[in-house]
Amino acid sequence: MSNPSLLILPGDGIGPEVMAEVKRIIDWMGTKRGITFDVSEDLVGGCAYDAHGTPLHDDTMAKAQEVDAVLLGAVGGPKYDDLDFSVKPERGLLRLRKEMDLFSNLRPAQCFDALADFSSLKKDVVAGLDIMIIRELTSGVYFGEPRGIFEEGNERVGINTQRYTESEIDRVARSAFELARKRTGKVCSMEKANVMESGILWREVVQKVRDEDYRDIELSHMYADAGAMQLTRWPKQFDVIVTDNLFGDLLSDLAAMLTGSLGMLPSASLGAPMTNGRPKALYEPVHGSAPDIAGQGKANPIACVLSFAMALRYSFDMGEEATRVEKAVETVLAQGLRTADLLGEEGATPVSTSGMGDAILAGLDQSI
Ligand code: IPM
Ligand code: MG
Repeated sequence: MSNPSLLILPGDGIGPEVMAEVKRIIDWMGTKRGITFDVSEDLVGGCAYDAHGTPLHDDTMAKAQEVDAVLLGAVGGPKYDDLDFSVKPERGLLRLRKEMDLFSNLRPAQCFDALADFSSLKKDVVAGLDIMIIRELTSGVYFGEPRGIFEEGNERVGINTQRYTESEIDRVARSAFELARKRTGKVCSMEKANVMESGILWREVVQKVRDEDYRDIELSHMYADAGAMQLTRWPKQFDVIVTDNLFGDLLSDLAAMLTGSLGMLPSASLGAPMTNGRPKALYEPVHGSAPDIAGQGKANPIACVLSFAMALRYSFDMGEEATRVEKAVETVLAQGLRTADLLGEEGATPVSTSGMGDAILAGLDQSI
């Protein structure tokens, strides 16, 4: 059987630095675990624009469609702020999501014990927190038509359209229920059915899928604004949250910050199964390209490392290896090693991006 294939797209800003630490773990897996990936690497975002005049070259897009999983660092930066909207770095990422049809975006928000003090909330509110936001990723207001800036009378009007079909809601609801079955069986669906027709349909379809095929799931519904409030009040009331593209964007940033640092959180974007049974998949840290600290060895590589762990689990059926990586991360945090985003505690040991990578590799060595 051929090796599992992985396309690495480090992207912009801190993307290449954090991805460098993942590449070391991939090498480690080859030499110490005998698990070899066919790895290829390419450009996405601003760096792709610099090289090709587009944030995602067609050849890169084609490669992404063929591999078992794509691992992305981050895209964007102030250098590209004035580019035309159609070639902005973010368009590269959105094209990958859309053309690979990655409709189910898994964004875990997990609070590591060693970091509970970093949250802006009280420790008992966040300690032990482990929730999963499932964000619909290929539709809604991000992609709905009509969209654009148009002339209307003597002024301009900016238009975006929130649009969801029943089948789009159905498939993301199913992915949430499937995942919930592997957790506590509890799902909360969030929309604004009080003001939006798309929200009314969302609520109806999610409930119908539950009643027809997932009667074991405990489903509740919440308006997304109340959901934001409840997430900060008592986040541990939730397990799986399923929501649309835009609300998911906002709520996942909010949930991420409950855990103390954006530098810790991975994500998986999954599509329909390919012929080999694996879902189309892209893995990326939730954090952005952080241009202010890029190139200084300050970035926290953990979110990217944990994104690779999610790839091991969801694309390669290597749950045990995924747990090994996650445990190694937990160990270095418990040892008090901290990148710049996590400094401030007494007794913490400051480390650089590669210093954190060294420690994770040492943790992995100890695990075998
Ligand atoms: C995210 C980001 C993206 C989004 C941007 C970079 C296009 O905020 O992945 O959450 O809005 O989806
Ligand atoms: Mg976002």
